[in-house]
Amino acid sequence: MYNSKVDVAELGNPILQAQAQKVVSFVGGRRESEELQHTIEQMREVMQVRNGVGIAAPQIGISQQILIIASRPNERYPEAPLIEPVVMINPVINTVSSYTEKGWEGCLSVPGIRGFVSRAVQVNVGFVDINGTPQCWELEGFLARIFLHEYDHLIGLTFLDRVDSVADLISENELAKR
Ligand code: NI
Repeated sequence: MYNSKVDVAELGNPILQAQAQKVVSFVGGRRESEELQHTIEQMREVMQVRNGVGIAAPQIGISQQILIIASRPNERYPEAPLIEPVVMINPVINTVSSYTEKGWEGCLSVPGIRGFVSRAVQVNVGFVDINGTPQCWELEGFLARIFLHEYDHLIGLTFLDRVDSVADLISENELAKR
């Protein structure tokens, strides 16, 4: 069905439970190293081939603090805003809103299952971009959700750790019947 040489870590793989390492391999503090660039290319490839709206490096077996947010409307998320994919290196959460909203999430690393997950509706984040430049962004709604989902992968969590109860889990087949 899909076609990528890159292996995706799935539930049960210890890398998904590990704290990812900070990226330090900037050349002169400005340009990403070849290795970093290769990692990001692989992440982009998997995300595109698997039709994801985000991905984190541990999902392709690389325990480093790198995530991509690539929201666009698609079959799974018709309401998703269209943005240019953003690579975030060493992301940090500065502030989160106390107001939360529940929404459906899926994950390349948790095949066949979706979760109805409560997330902050607004989050202020800091990160280093692919040029090595520090950035500070305010994310809302679905973008905040994607960020928080991917950020969780960097601290060893998946959406399964975030659902209030097992009653908020559903198989994709059952969801499709609704
Ligand atoms: Ni995920």
